[in-house]
Amino acid sequence: MEKLAGTLPKAELHLHIEGTFEPELIFSIAERNKIKVPFASVEALRAAYEFQDLQSFLDLYYAGMNVLRTEEDFYDLALAYFEKAHAQNVLHAEIFFDPQAHTARGISFDVVIEGLSKAVSESKKKFGITSKLIMCFLRDQSAESAMETLESALKYGDRIVAVGLDSAEVGNPPQKFKDVFDRARANGWLTVAHAGEEGPPEYVWEALKILKVSRVDHGVRSLEDADLTRHLIEEQMALTVCPLSNVRLKVFSHLKQHNLKKMLELGIRATINSDDPAYFGGYVSDNFRAAQNALELSQEELENLARNSFHASFLTDAERAKYLSMVDDAVKHWHGLNRQDCCQHD
Ligand code: ADE
Ligand code: ZN
Repeated sequence: MEKLAGTLPKAELHLHIEGTFEPELIFSIAERNKIKVPFASVEALRAAYEFQDLQSFLDLYYAGMNVLRTEEDFYDLALAYFEKAHAQNVLHAEIFFDPQAHTARGISFDVVIEGLSKAVSESKKKFGITSKLIMCFLRDQSAESAMETLESALKYGDRIVAVGLDSAEVGNPPQKFKDVFDRARANGWLTVAHAGEEGPPEYVWEALKILKVSRVDHGVRSLEDADLTRHLIEEQMALTVCPLSNVRLKVFSHLKQHNLKKMLELGIRATINSDDPAYFGGYVSDNFRAAQNALELSQEELENLARNSFHASFLTDAERAKYLSMVDDAVKHWHGLNRQDCCQHD
């Protein structure tokens, strides 16, 4: 079954490109840009990845991306992710980026999006992976700063599929960004938001009702509210769940305590994603495998998770149908292999 978790075709829908920045690449880009990293070595940096909560992670996450300066840096970062994603059977990725974390350091929006867009095109050519960009606003910054960011992104309209909301959740409710999200939707962009990761179920309601999101990122605290749980099931609203992230940031004390299996049993459209794989110990198939082991997910549940990832994506219906038939083929192939295994042993 571990093998099935790896080989199933998947879409990844909750992935911060800056969270794929592996220590080795941080050091090599720092050297290219003649910037000193405040850690003695790759090993020392990796050893610092012990988090108490979301904020303690964010402090290192923002420090790490400080070495990204040029279009080439953003290109290299994204292409390194696509290579890993390809090896884990990701066929489609919807990727977050945090423009304010770069513009605040004097890097222009254009440098960020040009570098990422080139990697998006190259990954289609090189790996056949389709991808879309989701521009996130940092919720611990002001709504005015988010609106300014949105203005600088308008000229890149069709390179961005949606806007999102990330960074420190508690104390920064979705309603703070109502006007920004209204403007984004008026511009034709879809909306998503991190909600119910550390924040309460009320934040998930606000994301749904006020920001009119098409998916909820994380959303694991939704199950504390029975009405919200019912609503998510009725609407088949997707949650982009990130199991290893939730354990590393102490949302759950152990993967065995995670409510992902409960979500599937209730009929919630849950998906598995890696969030910030360079920091949390694994890419998307690693998350599938870890969740499968800890929660004893059945074969049917794994297949369901792979299908949900395409159902919840922003692909066109024709693209979605093509990818879903690839999941069906992989499952048939898997059953065929298992039948052969069984009969050879008989
Ligand atoms: N930015 C990067 N990863 C994040 C997470 N898990 N929650 C909120 N903001 C983030
Ligand atoms: Zn996230």
